[in-house]
Amino acid sequence: MTTTFDSTALSAHVADALGRIAAAADEADVRALASELTGKRSLLTALHRSLGSLDADQRREAGRLLNEAAATITAAIEERSGVLGASAMTARLEADRLRLDEVEDLVALAPVVRGHRHLVTQTRDELEDVFIAMGFRVEEGPEVETDWYNFEALNIPPAHPARGMHDTIYVDVGDAESVVLRTHTSPVQIRLMEAAVRDGSLPLHVVIPGRVYRQDTPDASHLVEFHQIEGLVVDEDITFADLAGTIESFTAAYFGSDIKARLRPSYFPFTEPSAEFDITCTLCRGAGCRTCAQTGWVELGGCGVVDPAVFAAVGIDPTRWSGFAFGFGIDRCAFMRHQIADLRALIDNDVRFLRQF
Ligand code: DAH
Repeated sequence: MTTTFDSTALSAHVADALGRIAAAADEADVRALASELTGKRSLLTALHRSLGSLDADQRREAGRLLNEAAATITAAIEERSGVLGASAMTARLEADRLRLDEVEDLVALAPVVRGHRHLVTQTRDELEDVFIAMGFRVEEGPEVETDWYNFEALNIPPAHPARGMHDTIYVDVGDAESVVLRTHTSPVQIRLMEAAVRDGSLPLHVVIPGRVYRQDTPDASHLVEFHQIEGLVVDEDITFADLAGTIESFTAAYFGSDIKARLRPSYFPFTEPSAEFDITCTLCRGAGCRTCAQTGWVELGGCGVVDPAVFAAVGIDPTRWSGFAFGFGIDRCAFMRHQIADLRALIDNDVRFLRQF
C-alpha cells in the first residue's frame, strides 16, 4: 500500500491520536500507543517515506507539517505517561503504608520480654552489697597477670608445690617473664597493697570480685572460667578473731541466720595461719545429704592472716600493720543459695534456666 501525503488526513490523524492518548488507562496502554503512533509501522513513518515523490517545495512544507505532528503526538505521550506514572507511584505508596493500628495488635500478641542480669552478676552484686554494708570498698584487677602477681608476690615461688593446685593457663607472649590468666583474685591484693604503700593510703578494707581461669575439664562442679570474690583488710591490731567475726557476719547476712560458718585449719602460702571455711549445707540445712557427703557442711573458700612474706613483697611494715584475707567462689555461692545441680548451667546460656532467677 502506498501512502500519499494529505495534510487534512494528517490533521485528522493527530486529533484522533491525541484523543486516544488522553484516554489511555495505564502506562502499558501509553507504551502500546507510542509504538503504534510513532514507531516504524506508524502512519507518520509511512508519510515520511512518501515525501520523496513530492517536488521540492511541497516536500519542504509537508516535512514541516509531519515534524509538527510528530512533536505534538510525542509530547502528548510523554505528558500522559508522566501523569499515569505519578498516580501509580501514589497507589504503590498507599499500598505500602504501615497501618499502625494493625501493628499495635501484633505487639499485643507478642510482647517484647525485657532481659535481666545473669545469675552470676546478681550474686556478685548481692555479695558486694553485704560487704559494702560491713565497711568494705569494691575494687577490681586485671584478668591477665604476670607470674609475679599471680604467684611469686603471694609467696608461691617457681617450684612451690602449691602451684600444682592451680592448673594454670599460660599466655605465650614470647617474653622471658611468664604471663598467665589469673588463677585466683588474690593477685589484686598485691596490686592494691602496692598502690596503698605508694600513696600512703593504708588502711585497706576491700573486696575484689572477678573472673578467674584454670585448666580443668568442666563438670557439674568445675568450670574453666569461674568467679571469685577476694577480701583483704590491712589495718592496725588485726587478729584472726576479726577474720572469724567477718566470715560469721557475712555468712549470716548472705545465707540467713540459720546457716553457720566454721573454720578448719589449712594451708595457703600467702596466709599464716590459714583456714578453710565451711558453711552449713544449704540443701539439707546440716542434716547430711549427697551434696555435703553426709557431713552437713560444704566448703566455701580459704582465708587467713596475711603472711609477713607478702607484706615484705609489697613493702608494708609488719610491725605496724597486720591483716587478714579471704577468697571464695561466686558461682559456688549461687549454686548453694539456689540449689543448682550443675555449674555448667551457668555458662550454657539457656534462657529457660536463666529466666528462673
Ligand atoms: N586464692 C585462693 C584460691 O583460689 C583462695 C584464698 C585462700 C584466698 C586464702 C585468700 C586466702 O585470700 O587468704 O584457692
